[in-house]
Amino acid sequence: MALNANLERLIALSAPLWAGEAEVVRTYWDSPVRNLDADLLWLRRQCFKEFNGKGLGEHRDLGIFLGPLTEIMESFARIDRGEGRGVDRHHVLGLIETIHDEFTHYCLFADVYDAIRDADTPPLDPHKLEIWDDDNTLTQMRIRQNHTHGAIGVRASRFTEGGYCTLFREGARLKGRGGQDELIAHACQEIYDDEFGHMLSGIVGLDTAPMSDADYALMGELVVDQLRARIRMRNSEFSYPLSEKRVAAIYRGDIDPEPFDYARAEAMLAAHG
Ligand SMILES: [Fe+2]
Repeated sequence: MALNANLERLIALSAPLWAGEAEVVRTYWDSPVRNLDADLLWLRRQCFKEFNGKGLGEHRDLGIFLGPLTEIMESFARIDRGEGRGVDRHHVLGLIETIHDEFTHYCLFADVYDAIRDADTPPLDPHKLEIWDDDNTLTQMRIRQNHTHGAIGVRASRFTEGGYCTLFREGARLKGRGGQDELIAHACQEIYDDEFGHMLSGIVGLDTAPMSDADYALMGELVVDQLRARIRMRNSEFSYPLSEKRVAAIYRGDIDPEPFDYARAEAMLAAHG
């Protein structure tokens, strides 16, 4: 069972940009820009995204934690009260799972931060974490697209979430190096195991979404803009392991695409369809 041609085109557009984001992280691990301060910086920034990241079409743009939490509180009295006014229990369960999963990611990275910080560095305080310029660019782009293009915008934002689990996969590859790399590898492997299936089932779910060729063309444009912005977001998160020249070359397509797991995606599709 194959994915539909529009969805395969969307994956083909995305795969070189997923690979670009992977190159940022993979290059960082052995880059001269890497030291303890740079590790603490990316961990703080990643914790910010997991604790309070925005732009995924969450309730009132309130972020990954307060968005679903507020929606749950506002929905409570209407759970399963049908006739168009109600909120389906499975929707609420999904919101609870989102909070649980993202807060788990936050805890895993915060635990690494507190394990590797030096004595002069205070424990991680999530309320002191701040967004950085390139992450703000990506976030504002997503919020704008979500509001301008409705369901297609939100689909694009969810499609690019995690950039095909890039950070988690590349982080997990540190396994066996010992020391703090082992802690990073462990956190990333846990998140990868948890997220990859979700992410893939989200992509497979698009296969049966009622989307026209024009909807797919629009989504392709939004996805490419977001994935390009993700490469800059990651490059600055990780203290610029890639040069501006290399980022420009990746934008032009001078890179081997990230292999997409068609076998697993098609097995999922066959099981659902
Ligand atoms: Fe996450």
